[in-house]
Amino acid sequence: MPPTIPLGDLKREYETIGREIDDAIERVLHRGWFVLGEEGAAFEAEWAAYCEAAQAIGVGNGTDALALALRAAGIGPGDEVIVPALTAAFTALAVSMAGATPVFVDVDPRRYTLDPAAFEAAINPRTAAVIPVHLYGCPADMEAIVRISRQHHLLVVEDAAQAHGARYEGRRVGALGDVAAFSFYPSKNLGAYGDAGAITTGDAALAEKARMLRHGGQRGTYDHEILGTNSRLDEVQAAVLRAKLRHLDSWNARRQSLASDYDTGLADCESLTRPWQPSDAEHVFHLYVVRTARRGELQRYLAGQGIQTGVHYPRGVHQQPAYAHLGYKEGSCPNAEAAARQVLSLPLFPQLERREAGQVIHAIRSFFGQDE
Ligand SMILES: Cc1ncc(COP(=O)(O)O)c(C=O)c1O
Repeated sequence: MPPTIPLGDLKREYETIGREIDDAIERVLHRGWFVLGEEGAAFEAEWAAYCEAAQAIGVGNGTDALALALRAAGIGPGDEVIVPALTAAFTALAVSMAGATPVFVDVDPRRYTLDPAAFEAAINPRTAAVIPVHLYGCPADMEAIVRISRQHHLLVVEDAAQAHGARYEGRRVGALGDVAAFSFYPSKNLGAYGDAGAITTGDAALAEKARMLRHGGQRGTYDHEILGTNSRLDEVQAAVLRAKLRHLDSWNARRQSLASDYDTGLADCESLTRPWQPSDAEHVFHLYVVRTARRGELQRYLAGQGIQTGVHYPRGVHQQPAYAHLGYKEGSCPNAEAAARQVLSLPLFPQLERREAGQVIHAIRSFFGQDE
């Protein structure tokens, strides 16, 4: 049986904006041009403007966006790239895809994003770049990260896959470092109806190289100047993203308002830690992540009430078997490891009803014996 209150629900989204999506897709079908055309170009311009960035380059997915951003900046074999230990493994896989080596660094225990002090301590002569991840929708501590990066001449690649529209000191993510990567995986704050991604940057040379890399390394047709790949944003997805972009700010506002319902309703549950909202950042709540030592028990209890939850993520990326060869020991990133044991994502998406958030709050309060 499907859960009564799901973690996310894209059918509900389509029910609210179906006409706009159908119109957008039909426009592409009638035009009969499916890859690298006017929808993609228009979306790139609109996305760059939204992110307050000079340029956006549409690509096939968020992992490619990161890998191509690194490659466009000349990062590859022999280089080390610092990534937070708590993130989607795809952040690190992109580094590996570019031929470089990920170096896992601990996160701040409250913000869950890259800890600037741990980052600085991990820098060595092979370090070429850092990827701060704006995890769960909360911008990383970019002031410190950019300052340290400038001192050591490191490239700053934002992983903004979970933070579309979030702001740090008033500025949108996507233009806070040298280059940024977005995923438009369907469940993201701005999601395609399939895979899609984008790079944003203010660096014209890097942008030009990324455009070539995504399209076989071609400068002009059949002129393969560098070893590129195939990672293009298709016209159908670009049209869907353009239609949905018009709703992004109101959807983010709705996420924030549901998060504030959770904050209020769960405020006196002492055994539960709610998300921290740092004063320098505007959190867009891709996920509403609480923390408790009784995570497994609470998750099972909620499942029994028809409430679906998630764990983002059950282990640090340095603990993934795919990275066992790098030899990280347990305890090497203690904040990330502790979070991985305790975090729980509650249902949160723009079409979630207040009443449903109320039911989740009620269930959690009863679990902790805090029924009114
Ligand atoms: C933080 C983060 N980085 C990178 C990715 C990779 O994006 P994609 O799935 O579009 O390749 C994701 C999403 O899975 C993500 O959440």
